[in-house]
Amino acid sequence: MAGARPIAMVGVDKDLIDLIQELPDWDLAGVFDSHPAADALGVPHLGGDDAWAEIRAARPDLGIVISIDPTGLKSKLLAHYGRDALRTVVALDGYVARSATLGPGCIVQRGARVLPDAVLGQSVKLNVGATIHHDGRIGDCVTLAPGCQILGAVTLEDRVYVGAGAIVLPRITVGKGATVGAGAVVASDVPEGMTVVGVPARPLERRRKREPHP
Ligand SMILES: CC(C)(COP(=O)(O)OP(=O)(O)OC[C@H]1O[C@@H](n2cnc3c(N)ncnc32)[C@H](O)[C@@H]1OP(=O)(O)O)[C@@H](O)C(=O)NCCC(=O)NCCS
Repeated sequence: MAGARPIAMVGVDKDLIDLIQELPDWDLAGVFDSHPAADALGVPHLGGDDAWAEIRAARPDLGIVISIDPTGLKSKLLAHYGRDALRTVVALDGYVARSATLGPGCIVQRGARVLPDAVLGQSVKLNVGATIHHDGRIGDCVTLAPGCQILGAVTLEDRVYVGAGAIVLPRITVGKGATVGAGAVVASDVPEGMTVVGVPARPLERRRKREPHP
């Protein structure tokens, strides 16, 4: 594996392990995870997050990619591991337009696409087949689940999560920390922190817990 650079994952994501192992640019050194027993397809467990400082001191060339999906936790881990350590991983069949800009620590999974003039912050994950169309403005620590479509000139602010197969229509803004449920079609702006589901997407109203029968 001449020329391959060492990288470690934060959190176990089997799809990402499978991707990194396929790429000639990277040599997957292991996984940081608070659960040592997590099934990581045989990839070595390097320790919990607290193991990072010592390992980094011993191996200053070791980069990381934060693979976990929950966006608030991803943001905290980014502060812990440090921006300088972040590496960007792009699948061989992932597409990043020449005019698009990716921050450090992004993941472009198989079949995912970042189209012209899109601008992505740090630690943005496009899972398998997700697409950010032209002129997208994507903040830090955003997670896009498989197959979602972020259409032209959409803004996703920091820590937005978009569920599998969801569609965000052109020029919509989704506010910080908001969640779009799987399969939703977002046709109007989503306020900060809100969860929306359905077609067209509406705020998630949780059913009140029913009292047990007397
Ligand atoms: C929207 C979402 C975040 C809500 O999760 P949650 O807060 O745990 O909500 P719950 O599972 O308790 O469901 C609450 C209610 O919303 C409904 N609901 C949940 N997700 C929904 C969705 N995507 N679309 C429509 N309704 C949904 C549930 O049926 C439930 O309805 P009820 O109160 O009438 O029984 C989650 O269901 C979701 O869609 N996550 C995305 C998953 C995904 O894409 N994963 C990809 C992994 S790679």
